[in-house]
Amino acid sequence: EEDLAGIADLPKVELHLHHEGAAPPAFIRGLAKEKSVNLSGVFREDGSYAYRDFVHFLSVYEAATEVLKTPRDYARLTTALLEDCAKNGVIYCETFISPDFCGGGDLGAWREYLHAMQEAAAEAERDMGITLRGIVTCIRHFGPDKARPAARCAAETAGDWIVGFGMGGDENRGELRDFAYSFDMAREAGLQLTTHAGEWRGPSEVRSAVEDLRVARIGHGVRAIEDLALVDLLAETGVVLEVCPGSNVMLGVYPDLATHPIAELRERGVKVTVSTDDPPFFHTTMRQEYVTLAETFQWDAEVMREITRTAAEAAFCDEETRKTIL
Ligand code: ADE
Ligand code: ZN
Repeated sequence: EEDLAGIADLPKVELHLHHEGAAPPAFIRGLAKEKSVNLSGVFREDGSYAYRDFVHFLSVYEAATEVLKTPRDYARLTTALLEDCAKNGVIYCETFISPDFCGGGDLGAWREYLHAMQEAAAEAERDMGITLRGIVTCIRHFGPDKARPAARCAAETAGDWIVGFGMGGDENRGELRDFAYSFDMAREAGLQLTTHAGEWRGPSEVRSAVEDLRVARIGHGVRAIEDLALVDLLAETGVVLEVCPGSNVMLGVYPDLATHPIAELRERGVKVTVSTDDPPFFHTTMRQEYVTLAETFQWDAEVMREITRTAAEAAFCDEETRKTIL
Protein backbone atom coordinates (compact mmCIF):
# COMPACT_ATOMS: atom_id res chain seq x y z
CA GLU A 1 0.00 0.00 0.00
CA GLU A 2 1.04 3.57 -0.74
CA ASP A 3 0.66 4.78 2.86
CA LEU A 4 2.58 1.85 4.39
CA ALA A 5 5.52 2.45 2.07
CA GLY A 6 5.46 6.11 3.11
CA ILE A 7 5.36 5.08 6.77
CA ALA A 8 8.32 2.72 6.32
CA ASP A 9 10.37 5.61 4.96
CA LEU A 10 9.45 8.21 7.60
CA PRO A 11 12.31 9.76 9.54
CA LYS A 12 12.38 8.16 13.00
CA VAL A 13 13.61 8.89 16.50
CA GLU A 14 14.57 5.96 18.72
CA LEU A 15 14.90 6.40 22.49
CA HIS A 16 15.25 2.82 23.75
CA LEU A 17 18.13 0.87 22.25
CA HIS A 18 20.73 -1.18 24.11
CA HIS A 19 24.20 -0.65 22.69
CA GLU A 20 25.24 -4.32 22.92
CA GLY A 21 21.72 -5.50 22.14
CA ALA A 22 21.94 -3.72 18.80
CA ALA A 23 25.03 -5.69 17.74
CA PRO A 24 24.42 -7.54 14.47
CA PRO A 25 25.08 -11.29 15.05
CA ALA A 26 27.57 -11.33 12.16
CA PHE A 27 29.50 -8.53 13.85
CA ILE A 28 29.75 -10.46 17.13
CA ARG A 29 30.69 -13.67 15.28
CA GLY A 30 33.39 -11.77 13.39
CA LEU A 31 34.92 -10.45 16.60
CA ALA A 32 34.71 -13.92 18.19
CA LYS A 33 36.65 -15.36 15.27
CA GLU A 34 39.30 -12.59 15.36
CA LYS A 35 39.82 -13.13 19.09
CA SER A 36 39.33 -16.91 19.10
CA VAL A 37 36.55 -16.60 21.67
CA ASN A 38 34.20 -19.57 21.83
CA LEU A 39 30.63 -18.31 21.70
CA SER A 40 28.88 -21.66 21.41
CA GLY A 41 25.37 -21.40 22.76
CA VAL A 42 25.00 -17.76 21.74
CA PHE A 43 23.85 -18.48 18.19
CA ARG A 44 21.35 -20.76 16.52
CA GLU A 45 22.31 -22.76 13.45
CA ASP A 46 20.75 -20.10 11.23
CA GLY A 47 23.12 -17.53 12.75
CA SER A 48 20.56 -15.66 14.85
CA TYR A 49 20.83 -15.16 18.61
CA ALA A 50 19.59 -18.16 20.61
CA TYR A 51 17.52 -17.73 23.77
CA ARG A 52 14.55 -19.45 25.39
CA ASP A 53 13.06 -16.73 27.58
CA PHE A 54 13.85 -13.34 29.13
CA VAL A 55 16.30 -14.53 31.79
CA HIS A 56 18.11 -16.68 29.24
CA PHE A 57 18.08 -13.72 26.83
CA LEU A 58 19.93 -11.65 29.45
CA SER A 59 22.58 -14.35 29.88
CA VAL A 60 23.07 -14.76 26.11
CA TYR A 61 23.33 -10.96 25.85
CA GLU A 62 26.03 -10.95 28.51
CA ALA A 63 27.84 -13.88 26.86
CA ALA A 64 27.97 -11.95 23.58
CA THR A 65 29.70 -9.05 25.38
CA GLU A 66 32.64 -11.39 26.01
CA VAL A 67 34.06 -10.30 22.63
CA LEU A 68 33.56 -6.58 23.37
CA LYS A 69 36.63 -5.94 25.46
CA THR A 70 38.28 -2.72 24.24
CA PRO A 71 37.32 0.86 23.35
CA ARG A 72 38.12 -0.04 19.75
CA ASP A 73 35.57 -2.90 19.86
CA TYR A 74 32.93 -0.45 21.09
CA ALA A 75 33.85 2.05 18.39
CA ARG A 76 33.31 -0.64 15.75
CA LEU A 77 30.05 -1.68 17.40
CA THR A 78 28.90 1.95 17.39
CA THR A 79 29.56 2.22 13.66
CA ALA A 80 27.79 -1.09 12.94
CA LEU A 81 24.67 -0.25 14.92
CA LEU A 82 24.38 3.28 13.54
CA GLU A 83 24.60 1.91 10.00
CA ASP A 84 21.60 -0.31 10.76
CA CYS A 85 19.69 2.53 12.42
CA ALA A 86 20.35 4.89 9.52
CA LYS A 87 19.18 2.23 7.03
CA ASN A 88 15.87 2.20 8.89
CA GLY A 89 15.34 5.92 8.60
CA VAL A 90 16.44 6.69 12.16
CA ILE A 91 17.82 10.25 12.30
CA TYR A 92 18.43 10.39 16.05
CA CYS A 93 18.86 7.68 18.66
CA GLU A 94 19.89 7.27 22.25
CA THR A 95 21.62 4.07 23.32
CA PHE A 96 22.01 2.50 26.75
CA ILE A 97 25.71 2.12 27.51
CA SER A 98 26.88 0.29 30.62
CA PRO A 99 30.13 1.00 32.48
CA ASP A 100 29.76 -2.59 33.72
CA PHE A 101 30.68 -3.77 30.20
CA CYS A 102 32.95 -0.79 29.43
CA GLY A 103 35.72 -0.91 32.00
CA GLY A 104 33.80 -2.49 34.88
CA GLY A 105 32.98 0.81 36.60
CA ASP A 106 36.53 2.19 36.48
CA LEU A 107 36.27 5.88 35.59
CA GLY A 108 39.51 6.12 33.61
CA ALA A 109 38.62 3.12 31.48
CA TRP A 110 35.07 4.39 31.04
CA ARG A 111 36.38 7.69 29.64
CA GLU A 112 38.39 5.77 27.04
CA TYR A 113 35.40 3.71 25.93
CA LEU A 114 33.31 6.85 25.75
CA HIS A 115 35.88 8.72 23.70
CA ALA A 116 36.06 5.86 21.19
CA MET A 117 32.27 5.65 20.86
CA GLN A 118 31.89 9.41 20.48
CA GLU A 119 34.48 9.48 17.73
CA ALA A 120 32.69 6.69 15.85
CA ALA A 121 29.36 8.49 16.34
CA ALA A 122 30.77 11.78 15.01
CA GLU A 123 31.99 9.96 11.91
CA ALA A 124 28.58 8.30 11.44
CA GLU A 125 26.92 11.69 11.81
CA ARG A 126 29.13 13.13 9.06
CA ASP A 127 28.67 10.12 6.77
CA MET A 128 25.04 9.16 7.36
CA GLY A 129 23.40 12.15 9.04
CA ILE A 130 22.42 10.15 12.13
CA THR A 131 22.87 11.62 15.62
CA LEU A 132 23.66 9.47 18.68
CA ARG A 133 23.51 10.37 22.36
CA GLY A 134 24.34 8.10 25.30
CA ILE A 135 22.38 7.06 28.39
CA VAL A 136 24.63 5.51 31.03
CA THR A 137 22.91 2.41 32.29
CA CYS A 138 23.24 0.32 35.41
CA ILE A 139 22.01 -3.24 35.45
CA ARG A 140 19.38 -4.18 37.98
CA HIS A 141 20.41 -7.79 38.56
CA PHE A 142 24.01 -6.70 39.21
CA GLY A 143 22.60 -4.96 42.32
CA PRO A 144 22.72 -1.46 43.89
CA ASP A 145 26.42 -1.74 44.83
CA LYS A 146 27.38 -2.04 41.14
CA ALA A 147 24.97 0.76 40.21
CA ARG A 148 26.91 3.31 42.28
CA PRO A 149 30.16 3.24 40.29
CA ALA A 150 28.03 3.28 37.12
CA ALA A 151 26.24 6.38 38.39
CA ARG A 152 29.58 7.93 39.28
CA CYS A 153 30.83 7.30 35.72
CA ALA A 154 27.61 8.92 34.48
CA ALA A 155 27.93 11.94 36.76
CA GLU A 156 31.59 12.49 35.85
CA THR A 157 30.93 12.39 32.11
CA ALA A 158 27.54 14.14 32.02
CA GLY A 159 27.32 16.68 29.25
CA ASP A 160 26.07 17.21 25.76
CA TRP A 161 26.83 13.61 24.73
CA ILE A 162 26.07 11.62 27.88
CA VAL A 163 22.61 13.01 28.45
CA GLY A 164 20.92 10.52 30.74
CA PHE A 165 21.15 7.78 33.33
CA GLY A 166 19.02 4.66 33.40
CA MET A 167 18.66 1.05 34.42
CA GLY A 168 17.98 -2.17 32.53
CA GLY A 169 18.26 -5.81 33.49
CA ASP A 170 16.04 -8.25 35.33
CA GLU A 171 13.06 -6.37 36.72
CA ASN A 172 12.14 -9.33 38.90
CA ARG A 173 15.24 -8.80 41.03
CA GLY A 174 15.49 -6.25 43.84
CA GLU A 175 13.46 -3.08 44.35
CA LEU A 176 13.72 0.20 42.47
CA ARG A 177 14.04 2.27 45.65
CA ASP A 178 17.33 0.48 46.42
CA PHE A 179 18.77 2.33 43.41
CA ALA A 180 17.54 5.79 44.48
CA TYR A 181 21.02 6.82 45.67
CA SER A 182 22.45 6.24 42.18
CA PHE A 183 19.57 7.98 40.41
CA ASP A 184 19.88 10.95 42.81
CA MET A 185 23.61 11.19 42.05
CA ALA A 186 22.88 11.24 38.32
CA ARG A 187 20.07 13.81 38.69
CA GLU A 188 22.35 16.09 40.72
CA ALA A 189 24.89 15.91 37.89
CA GLY A 190 22.24 17.28 35.52
CA LEU A 191 21.35 14.00 33.83
CA GLN A 192 17.83 13.08 32.80
CA LEU A 193 16.45 9.77 34.01
CA THR A 194 14.77 6.65 32.70
CA THR A 195 14.38 3.12 34.01
CA HIS A 196 13.00 -0.15 32.76
CA ALA A 197 9.77 -0.85 34.67
CA GLY A 198 6.43 -2.42 33.93
CA GLU A 199 7.81 -4.86 31.38
CA TRP A 200 7.70 -7.89 33.70
CA ARG A 201 6.33 -6.56 36.97
CA GLY A 202 2.99 -4.78 37.19
CA PRO A 203 1.74 -1.23 37.72
CA SER A 204 3.22 -0.81 41.22
CA GLU A 205 6.66 -1.03 39.67
CA VAL A 206 5.82 1.78 37.24
CA ARG A 207 4.50 3.86 40.14
CA SER A 208 7.74 3.22 42.05
CA ALA A 209 9.77 4.40 39.03
CA VAL A 210 7.88 7.70 39.06
CA GLU A 211 7.73 8.19 42.82
CA ASP A 212 10.97 6.66 44.11
CA LEU A 213 13.33 7.33 41.20
CA ARG A 214 11.48 10.37 39.74
CA VAL A 215 12.21 9.41 36.16
CA ALA A 216 10.96 11.44 33.18
CA ARG A 217 10.72 8.37 30.96
CA ILE A 218 10.07 4.69 31.53
CA GLY A 219 11.48 1.80 29.51
CA HIS A 220 8.44 -0.24 28.46
CA GLY A 221 6.00 0.72 31.25
CA VAL A 222 3.28 -1.07 29.32
CA ARG A 223 1.88 -3.00 32.27
CA ALA A 224 0.72 0.35 33.66
CA ILE A 225 -2.41 -0.43 31.63
CA GLU A 226 -3.48 -2.79 34.45
CA ASP A 227 -4.12 0.24 36.72
CA LEU A 228 -6.15 2.97 35.05
CA ALA A 229 -5.55 5.46 37.88
CA LEU A 230 -1.85 5.06 37.20
CA VAL A 231 -2.46 5.50 33.47
CA ASP A 232 -4.22 8.79 34.26
CA LEU A 233 -1.27 9.84 36.44
CA LEU A 234 1.17 9.12 33.61
CA ALA A 235 -1.02 11.08 31.20
CA GLU A 236 -1.36 14.05 33.56
CA THR A 237 2.31 14.25 34.50
CA GLY A 238 3.55 13.67 30.95
CA VAL A 239 5.78 10.71 31.79
CA VAL A 240 6.98 9.24 28.50
CA LEU A 241 6.87 5.52 27.75
CA GLU A 242 9.62 3.99 25.61
CA VAL A 243 7.44 1.25 24.15
CA CYS A 244 9.09 -1.66 22.33
CA PRO A 245 6.20 -3.67 20.90
CA GLY A 246 8.24 -6.20 18.89
CA SER A 247 10.44 -6.93 21.91
CA ASN A 248 7.37 -7.46 24.12
CA VAL A 249 5.84 -9.92 21.65
CA MET A 250 9.10 -11.83 21.08
CA LEU A 251 9.69 -12.18 24.84
CA GLY A 252 6.08 -13.18 25.47
CA VAL A 253 4.93 -10.17 27.50
CA TYR A 254 1.95 -10.14 25.08
CA PRO A 255 0.92 -12.93 22.70
CA ASP A 256 0.73 -10.64 19.67
CA LEU A 257 0.69 -7.00 18.57
CA ALA A 258 -3.11 -6.89 18.44
CA THR A 259 -3.31 -7.49 22.20
CA HIS A 260 -0.46 -5.07 23.00
CA PRO A 261 -1.67 -2.06 25.06
CA ILE A 262 0.22 0.65 23.11
CA ALA A 263 -2.95 1.84 21.35
CA GLU A 264 -5.01 2.02 24.53
CA LEU A 265 -2.23 3.82 26.41
CA ARG A 266 -2.07 6.36 23.60
CA GLU A 267 -5.86 6.76 23.50
CA ARG A 268 -5.82 7.42 27.24
CA GLY A 269 -3.41 10.30 26.74
CA VAL A 270 -0.09 8.71 27.70
CA LYS A 271 2.93 9.93 25.73
CA VAL A 272 4.02 6.80 23.87
CA THR A 273 7.12 6.44 21.72
CA VAL A 274 8.31 3.43 19.71
CA SER A 275 11.69 1.68 19.85
CA THR A 276 13.25 -1.70 19.09
CA ASP A 277 15.12 -2.50 22.38
CA ASP A 278 17.56 -5.11 20.95
CA PRO A 279 16.65 -5.33 17.25
CA PRO A 280 18.66 -8.37 16.06
CA PHE A 281 17.65 -10.38 19.13
CA PHE A 282 13.99 -9.68 18.42
CA HIS A 283 14.20 -9.89 14.62
CA THR A 284 12.90 -6.38 14.28
CA THR A 285 13.83 -2.95 12.92
CA MET A 286 12.37 0.54 13.38
CA ARG A 287 10.98 0.30 9.86
CA GLN A 288 9.20 -2.94 10.77
CA GLU A 289 7.87 -1.57 14.07
CA TYR A 290 6.36 1.42 12.30
CA VAL A 291 4.80 -0.64 9.52
CA THR A 292 3.32 -3.37 11.73
CA LEU A 293 1.89 -0.81 14.18
CA ALA A 294 0.30 1.11 11.32
CA GLU A 295 -1.17 -2.12 9.92
CA THR A 296 -2.39 -3.52 13.24
CA PHE A 297 -3.99 -0.36 14.62
CA GLN A 298 -4.86 1.34 11.30
CA TRP A 299 -2.59 4.22 12.18
CA ASP A 300 -1.93 6.54 9.25
CA ALA A 301 1.26 8.45 8.51
CA GLU A 302 -0.01 11.37 10.58
CA VAL A 303 -0.22 9.22 13.72
CA MET A 304 3.23 7.78 13.10
CA ARG A 305 4.63 11.29 12.62
CA GLU A 306 3.03 12.33 15.90
CA ILE A 307 4.70 9.41 17.70
CA THR A 308 8.05 10.43 16.22
CA ARG A 309 7.45 14.02 17.33
CA THR A 310 6.67 12.83 20.87
CA ALA A 311 10.01 10.98 20.86
CA ALA A 312 11.89 14.05 19.59
CA GLU A 313 10.30 16.16 22.33
CA ALA A 314 11.22 13.53 24.96
CA ALA A 315 14.82 13.10 23.77
CA PHE A 316 17.38 13.90 26.46
CA CYS A 317 19.57 16.00 24.12
CA ASP A 318 20.02 19.77 24.34
CA GLU A 319 17.56 22.12 22.66
CA GLU A 320 19.86 22.93 19.79
CA THR A 321 20.13 19.25 18.85
CA ARG A 322 16.38 18.79 19.33
CA LYS A 323 15.69 21.52 16.75
CA THR A 324 17.48 19.40 14.15
CA ILE A 325 15.11 16.44 14.70
CA LEU A 326 11.75 18.13 15.25
N1 ADE B 1 18.54 -5.39 28.53
C1 ADE B 1 18.46 -5.51 27.22
N2 ADE B 1 17.17 -5.60 26.83
C2 ADE B 1 16.42 -5.55 27.95
C3 ADE B 1 15.03 -5.61 28.23
N3 ADE B 1 14.12 -5.73 27.27
N4 ADE B 1 14.65 -5.53 29.50
C4 ADE B 1 15.54 -5.41 30.47
N5 ADE B 1 16.86 -5.35 30.27
C5 ADE B 1 17.29 -5.42 29.02
ZN1 ZN C 1 15.37 -2.40 27.11
